[in-house]
Amino acid sequence: MKKARLFFQLVGVGIFTISLIIVSCTKEGPMGPAGADGTDGIDGEDGNSTCMACHNTTTKTNIEAQFSLSVHNAGLNAVDYAGGRASCAECHSHQGFVQFATTGDVVGNISNPTAWECATCHGLHETMGAGDYALRLKDPVNPIFDPSITMDLNGNSNLCANCHQSRRAEPALTNPGEDTFRITSTHWGPHHGAQANSVYGVGFAEIEGSVDYPEAGSSFHLKQASCTGCHMADFDNDRDEGGHTWNPSLVACNTCHEANEEDFNYGGVRSDIAAKLDVLRDELLRLGVLEWVEEDEAYEPVPGTYPTVQARAFFNWVGLSEDRSFGAHNPKYIRALLINTIEAVQAEPTPGV
Ligand code: HEC
Ligand code: HEC
Ligand code: HEC
Ligand code: HEC
Ligand code: HEC
Ligand code: HEC
Repeated sequence: MKKARLFFQLVGVGIFTISLIIVSCTKEGPMGPAGADGTDGIDGEDGNSTCMACHNTTTKTNIEAQFSLSVHNAGLNAVDYAGGRASCAECHSHQGFVQFATTGDVVGNISNPTAWECATCHGLHETMGAGDYALRLKDPVNPIFDPSITMDLNGNSNLCANCHQSRRAEPALTNPGEDTFRITSTHWGPHHGAQANSVYGVGFAEIEGSVDYPEAGSSFHLKQASCTGCHMADFDNDRDEGGHTWNPSLVACNTCHEANEEDFNYGGVRSDIAAKLDVLRDELLRLGVLEWVEEDEAYEPVPGTYPTVQARAFFNWVGLSEDRSFGAHNPKYIRALLINTIEAVQAEPTPGV
């Protein structure tokens, strides 16, 4: 009788209730079998353990201190001169790079360019997992000198390659098959920091000679370390190297090489490359492609038309000098370039003799 009593209690509560009761009196079939379980969702990252690995006060304070030592933070050479110009800003200012990373382009001149800050390189997270450093760009790069190829600098180091790359192709690519080449200005060359090209092993003038060039992308320093492995290894307080100073870390070299060197001259390679750069410079002076300019206190190319091999040789000399790693970026490639280039220019006759 339980059901009937409930029925009478509810009468009079209102038309709405009555209609519900009528529905509940409709005859129903037996309950069907239970459906299959849904698939499990992907486990989330543990909140505290993974987020706090990077987001804690000590890390942030330490990184800010390292950053204050860095050339990126100072931006002394880069920002005033080129940070506002539309064609330079993607690599030379915070505003320019953020625009480039977000839209792929810099639309016009920037009136108040500033130097690098945390948000220049870091934007939004993608996965929030370990290794997601919220970097704005980290995909392999289609280099400016030849966008049809891809340079994969290995993970986070691709960020660096967007800026630290050649802005010009070498003469045999721009003017294939021509015997002479015109150097148009004292600024001509790959640009001041083509490190991604040297590390990857592409974009310099591969003049034929006695040494074979290693295959692009094959170097052990690229595969095992790349930019971040040497320049952003754990910060070393004694030498102010690594981390967000971007100074290459001697500890990183010694750890991986199981060595105990006191400088970057591992195996004497640095002195050897420095000496070869001097030999090449002297050959270019002899050929009149290069001259010492007193007022700039610098060696500069003499604008003019030269046999293509000499222009290619100058391209390598200036590019590898401004690379400033003296071989470390890619010992085999840099050594091959210099040996073959020196052989080629030594065979060129002194003009007017
Ligand atoms: C591998 C290191 C790392 C881990 C792990 C990490 N973050 Fe970040 N996060 C960063 C960096 C680097 C930045 C950008 C620089 C800054 O703001 O300190 C950032 C920025 C942020 C920002 C501000 C920018 C944005 O994306 O909106 C938030 C919010 C954030 N993280 C939340 C989290 C949360 C929540 C977790 C855990 C689920 C997490 N992060 C895990 C490194 C990390
Ligand atoms: C937005 C472009 C940009 C990005 C991204 C960038 N750099 Fe730089 N970097 C520059 C410019 C421009 C300078 C020169 C700054 C100056 O002299 O004012 C510089 C300076 C440096 C220096 C110091 C050079 C010196 O004269 O002592 C090092 C080392 C360096 N970058 C390494 C890196 C590494 C490694 C990465 C990637 C983790 C990176 N950079 C990412 C543009 C960039
Ligand atoms: C693809 C990126 C990129 C573009 C575009 C670019 N630069 Fe640079 N530039 C760099 C990098 C990276 C460095 C620093 C390299 C280093 O320190 O090894 C640099 C350095 C320089 C320096 C040398 C600063 C010094 O150390 O004495 C000058 C001058 C310069 N750039 C001018 C310009 C001008 C002018 C433009 C535009 C016409 C321009 N750059 C466009 C990447 C770029
Ligand atoms: C020139 C680009 C650049 C700038 C500017 C920069 N970072 Fe980074 N940051 C990186 C890269 C690249 C990594 C990843 C390094 C790696 O793969 O080892 C990183 C890693 C990190 C990490 C996680 C790894 C760690 O060391 O704990 C944190 C946190 C971080 N950055 C915070 C900052 C903060 C805070 C600032 C500003 C004070 C800043 N970054 C400025 C490029 C940059
Ligand atoms: C094998 C380790 C290693 C790798 C990988 C590496 N670097 Fe270097 N880099 C060095 C050393 C060593 C120097 C010379 C430093 C010195 O003489 O003080 C150097 C010099 C530089 C300089 C000039 C710094 C200065 O103080 O004049 C820049 C800029 C630079 N590297 C950027 C990069 C970029 C960008 C990448 C990745 C494309 C990269 N490096 C990869 C070790 C490395
Ligand atoms: C992650 C590992 C790793 C790091 C970091 C590393 N190297 Fe290497 N390096 C190698 C390997 C592997 C070789 C090839 C084997 C060999 O010749 O010893 C090599 C070879 C070299 C060579 C060529 C030796 C020769 O005679 O041809 C030089 C020079 C060199 N490294 C310098 C450096 C310097 C300087 C640093 C630090 C700025 C450095 N390496 C950091 C792994 C590394």
